[in-house]
Amino acid sequence: MDLEILKKIIQKASWAPSGDNCQPWRFNWNGKQLKIYHIEVRAHHSLNFNNQVSLFTLGGLIEYLHIASLHYGYEPTFTLPDPTNLDPNFLTQVHFKKTTPQPQPLFEALSLRATDRRPFKNTPLDEKIVNNLLSVSKDFKQANAYVCTAPSEELKKYLVASEVLLFSNKAFLFDIIKWVRFRNKETIDSKDGLPWRNLGVGLRETIVLWLIKRYPKLYDLFKHMGMYNQVSLAAQKLVKSHTTFICFTVKSNENHLIESGRLALRSWLLLAKHGVSAQPMSSGAMLLYKQIVYPKDNFSTKAMTTHFNNGRLILQSSFGFSESERPIWLLRVGLSDPLNNNMKTYRRSVDQIFEVEA
Ligand SMILES: Cc1cc2nc3c(=O)[nH]c(=O)nc-3n(C[C@H](O)[C@H](O)[C@H](O)COP(=O)(O)O)c2cc1C
Repeated sequence: MDLEILKKIIQKASWAPSGDNCQPWRFNWNGKQLKIYHIEVRAHHSLNFNNQVSLFTLGGLIEYLHIASLHYGYEPTFTLPDPTNLDPNFLTQVHFKKTTPQPQPLFEALSLRATDRRPFKNTPLDEKIVNNLLSVSKDFKQANAYVCTAPSEELKKYLVASEVLLFSNKAFLFDIIKWVRFRNKETIDSKDGLPWRNLGVGLRETIVLWLIKRYPKLYDLFKHMGMYNQVSLAAQKLVKSHTTFICFTVKSNENHLIESGRLALRSWLLLAKHGVSAQPMSSGAMLLYKQIVYPKDNFSTKAMTTHFNNGRLILQSSFGFSESERPIWLLRVGLSDPLNNNMKTYRRSVDQIFEVEA
């Protein structure tokens, strides 16, 4: 393996998304194989039950690695962790076989794809793109993608209420605030997390978040002052802008999360290639998945259980999937202007995330 090429592959793969841009991976080359370790302290999050979000995110990383490796002339084979017996710092191994470089239709999109949290334009998506999206899932056996181009009021209401439920959970709010970068210097120095301009919220809300990060005791005060009305208004604005939704499902449990992550990222890259913007809305699907797989935990309230039981039916009827499938992720997609540079996230450099064993 040419180490300079391996570094190029890892650099491209580092652009695979992670929740809050926590970048929970470290890469090690031992002369024979690439080992990818999950970094539990980075991935720790109240949404990440039993590392289910990390497994899904690993699927996206694998999709990136696969495309970049073939582009540079290496065919990768992945040895995946066993989701049913998962070490917190679980390992994925990659073997590379030299081949001739193969042009990859989604290679350019690896660096183009980015999360866009602004309302989208009032223009419907080209039907060809929607059909293309649907055909992507034919390559996957255990994961599926469904498109809803005319979301009902019921679906929109469910998605808004899911965002409010999520943000009104104290543990979740503090988990996300930890990753918000309030100053440019902080973003540039850490090269991870979320620049505040990328959050899609106004200056006033950003100041509230900054105050809570600095003085956690202010949380209760802001809660009583109606902080969640702002979350609700912001989410309403997003789902009301002409928006298509994609729902990703898995056929059963953890065993299929990696596959669904691959499908989701392949779909998102395809959208990016066609200039279509997207934002994950995890609350309406990831929390629902958790509810189905781990109905008993310390996180869910009774209100959440009722909300998500109802949500499962709303998603089934909106997207047309069967009762046996489990929704895992939702993307809000539409047309939008290019993102400004100060809205874009950073990644840690290859030297920070990659080591070669002596
Ligand atoms: C598993 C997962 C869940 C995510 N959930 C959300 C979400 O609920 N809302 C949101 O706005 N962004 C969400 N994101 C987007 C990430 O915050 C984003 O990918 C990350 O900050 C990197 O930025 P980029 O996508 O622009 O490269 C999610 C990403 C992943 C991989």
